[in-house]
Amino acid sequence: MIKQNLNTMGQSFQSEIEKATNIDEIDNIKVKYLGKKGKLADLMKQLKSLDKEEKIEIGKQANLFKTQFQDQIKEKSKQLKRVKFDQQMENEWVDITLDPIKTQMGSLHPITMVQNKLEYIFESMGFQVLDGPHIESEYYNFEALNIPTHHPARDMQDTFYFEDGNLLRTQTSTIQIRGMESLEPPLRIIGTGKVFRCERTDASHDSCFHQLEGMMVDKNISVAHLIHFMKTMLSEIFESDVKVRLRPGYFPFVEPGFELDMACLLCQGKGCSVCSRVGWIELLGCGMTHPNVLKAGGVDPSKYSGFAFGMGMDRLAMMRYGITDIRPLHGGNLNFMRRFTLK
Ligand code: PHE
Repeated sequence: MIKQNLNTMGQSFQSEIEKATNIDEIDNIKVKYLGKKGKLADLMKQLKSLDKEEKIEIGKQANLFKTQFQDQIKEKSKQLKRVKFDQQMENEWVDITLDPIKTQMGSLHPITMVQNKLEYIFESMGFQVLDGPHIESEYYNFEALNIPTHHPARDMQDTFYFEDGNLLRTQTSTIQIRGMESLEPPLRIIGTGKVFRCERTDASHDSCFHQLEGMMVDKNISVAHLIHFMKTMLSEIFESDVKVRLRPGYFPFVEPGFELDMACLLCQGKGCSVCSRVGWIELLGCGMTHPNVLKAGGVDPSKYSGFAFGMGMDRLAMMRYGITDIRPLHGGNLNFMRRFTLK
């Protein structure tokens, strides 16, 4: 009886191990036949009831099965592991001969490059770089800059108003007032950033553009200082002698006021779409700070004087990099942007 059980066990082990398709199944078979409470152990317990000779015979057979089962389990596990590994190699195959995916280096925006360079130039001349908000009050954008509510100069800088009366700043000149409020004279400051105007868009105008503002307040500041700093800045940025001209210009926050033009570098003064065919580019407005503006900033005009200037960085970038239309500068065409590198 026991002998028969032993044989049946041998057969069922054979068929189970042959059918097994993964390691988990093999583990289960191992426990089922060779475990402490497994079939073989069960059988061994029953040996007690047999007589001596049978005990020896069945015992031998059982031990034989034990080593045979162990060997088979070992062999089958090896086989299944190899199959699993082969499958994995097949599925996770990597073609190491393929060309690598090339990463593309980004580059700074042309306006950012010009801005960085300008900040560097002015910092080296002792100017401090300040910042101001895009959303401004009428006070900082107009009133404190000597442009009261009734003033026609407001018309030339129409902008986008918010319901609470605030507006998108039309000029970085707001930074003049903020700078004077937060610092004591003597002071040398610049501020850069976006400005907004209700403007018709064409090759040289956009409703959002970028300005650089500068101001110097000290004792006995004159037009000579202004000209010196403007000339130094332009020759540094263009790394050459640029032709400039100074014309009288009106800005309510300076007196006297000037417009500084430079000969268009794209057409060498012959006339093109960027310079509206006149050969000159209106580069910046400047002048001696109006006493009312000094007062608004908390500076005593009887002790101090100052100069200020404001410049469009977009135009400067166009001149610097030979760009003929302002619009792609504010677009997202990366192929266009990648043409410009830091010089
Ligand atoms: N804020 C003036 C503009 O946007 C430029 C300017 C700045 C002129 C400082 C004079 C002095 O046109």
